[in-house]
Amino acid sequence: MGGLKERSVAAILPAAGSGQRFGDSKNKLFSSLNGDPLWVHSVRRLAMRAEIGRLILAVSEHDLGDFQEQASSVSLPLPVEFVIGGAERMDSVQRALDQIDTEGQQSWVAVHDAARPLVSADDLDKVFLAVQQTGAAILATPVSGTLKRELGGGLGSETVDREGIWMALTPQVFRVGLLKQAYAKHNGRPATDDAQLVERLGHAVQLVKGSAENLKITFPEDLSIAEAILNRK
Ligand code: C5P
Repeated sequence: MGGLKERSVAAILPAAGSGQRFGDSKNKLFSSLNGDPLWVHSVRRLAMRAEIGRLILAVSEHDLGDFQEQASSVSLPLPVEFVIGGAERMDSVQRALDQIDTEGQQSWVAVHDAARPLVSADDLDKVFLAVQQTGAAILATPVSGTLKRELGGGLGSETVDREGIWMALTPQVFRVGLLKQAYAKHNGRPATDDAQLVERLGHAVQLVKGSAENLKITFPEDLSIAEAILNRK
């Protein structure tokens, strides 16, 4: 089987977070990475793909002007569409998803954190190939460290078996109809990624082994790591 059809994927990039852990007054996504705003790297890596037909960024009302200004000064193969995000990441994705018609040209949706600027072309190839067979596939990486659970009450910790434990990455790719169905059943129950909502439907989500270098910029020091990875390549 070849890859996904040209322009058949709508990319959703949640970018409406406050980035409190980053500790800067401005959105961490505006931080410079090799001279471009961090979010531009994430968008560009998707925009360069023939499979991508739409790019929808969910941003906060406060940041919209800055995003629009930065978008106008970079050249991208596709226009960036903006929607106003919500209080939680899931709300932001929902609002972007509302812009996608189930019967439209895009039958797939790829949700990708705007804070992951390093996703590789190889990993995109793999997850786009896998999703054709399963309808739901996400990049993930096996956990390499030892996992501990804090017991509380002065009891210290216990070790969690890491066998079969993966860390979810993005993009997370789904049939549009499937993700819409998952969101329709969400009902505000907490979830930290989109795949969790699809799992709740009882639909299998395929884990596709991706590079651990596809890191999410969370703390300022992550930017130096990302820069080192970019400059090595
Ligand atoms: O905070 P964290 O880095 O885990 O957020 C992951 C992604 O979700 C970020 O790109 C962030 O901007 C986005 N987000 C969002 N709307 C929110 C919270 C987070 O779009 N309300």
